[in-house]
Amino acid sequence: MTATSVQIKHEIKDPSLASLGKQRIDWAGREMPVLAQIRDRFEAEKPLAGIKLVACCHVTTETAHLAIALKAGGADALLIASNPLSTQDDVAASLVVDHGIPVYAIKGEDAETYERHVQIALDHHPNIIIDDGSDVVATMVQERQDQLSELIGTNEETTTGIVRLRAMFKDGVLTFPAMNVNDADTKHFFDNRYGTGQSTLDGVIRATNILLAGKTLVVAGYGWCGKGVALRGRGMGANVIVTEIDPVRAIEAVMDGFRVMPMAQAAPLGDLFITVTGNKHVIRREHFEVMRDGAIVANSGHFDIEIDLKSLKEMSGEVKVVRPFTEEYRLNSGKSVVVLGEGRLVNLAAAEGHPSAVMDMSFANQALACEYLVKNKGKLEPGLHSIPEEIDREIARLKLVAMGIDLDSLTPEQHEYINSWQSGT
Ligand code: ADE
Repeated sequence: MTATSVQIKHEIKDPSLASLGKQRIDWAGREMPVLAQIRDRFEAEKPLAGIKLVACCHVTTETAHLAIALKAGGADALLIASNPLSTQDDVAASLVVDHGIPVYAIKGEDAETYERHVQIALDHHPNIIIDDGSDVVATMVQERQDQLSELIGTNEETTTGIVRLRAMFKDGVLTFPAMNVNDADTKHFFDNRYGTGQSTLDGVIRATNILLAGKTLVVAGYGWCGKGVALRGRGMGANVIVTEIDPVRAIEAVMDGFRVMPMAQAAPLGDLFITVTGNKHVIRREHFEVMRDGAIVANSGHFDIEIDLKSLKEMSGEVKVVRPFTEEYRLNSGKSVVVLGEGRLVNLAAAEGHPSAVMDMSFANQALACEYLVKNKGKLEPGLHSIPEEIDREIARLKLVAMGIDLDSLTPEQHEYINSWQSGT
């Protein structure tokens, strides 16, 4: 198929970007050997034959490999953007033109377009939904209850989406199985920590070109994502302060060597602020008021709610774009606050998201969770389900093989020892 004769339904920026997208997708594939093995098996076994599948994801080179694997498995897959700023338009073009996958995603799409794409996704009558943040699932539950009987289950890979699904379960509206991809060890240990850590700082640096060494970096939230950002920030020479609401995580941050304090105390100290809490208005009016002139604020949590931009706008006169994805708010007090990526995920808005090597494992979990849902159709209770341990461990094993790393194995004596209780001291 050529860019000028695209048959597949789509809403993308420009089909003629396909060749660039293909080149970049191929490059990402070099770091995604686990998903490639799954794709090859799917191609042979077709475990998703006849399944209508919607994926609401960041449309990146890595997501392209997931979509291709799902299609290879026989799924009738449709892809929509999970965030208005995260789409890589060339990737969207290649998926449509080179792979015949319907994509509805344009970088910079407005909220109305995003919501319309969610409706188009639901018009596809999905049996499986892969959701980032649970917007498609929540819309189906609220507006398309008649379609719930067609749903085998859903996958969720974001912390934010899992929190939302838990709230849905508590309210009695999660009436189908939802695979908790986020909590798989081979997902959050690597994607949330090393992926968010590296890509967030990549986004900040691409947007601003600032030197991190010697800067005071305030990281809001010490979950797996926050740990990654703090760790990598320190690695680049920043003085890192962590803010937390959870006492155990706060102790962890202290013992990891970071200063921990409330945002009210950190606000006047920070040069750069990064929110990764999943919660609302973590940085708000009272904090903007006391920040240093020129302080930079960015978010790497899933939704654009962590920085209270409405208040910042109210406090400001002029707002000026000073570089791509970099806006300077001139406060009425005379100081300025710089906001990156409109308060949306800075790692995807201003950079390319997590590196392929971690998405390899995240998306291996996604693909295998789809297969698991199909294999167990009708057998799983409504509610959240962990990724089975054998899938998690198999992904880790395949990754190690691909990395050329061997493990020790238990000697018979050791095997006997850990399976017995008789001998102690
Ligand atoms: N989330 C974070 N990084 C991502 C990436 N590279 N692709 C898809 N989803 C992501």
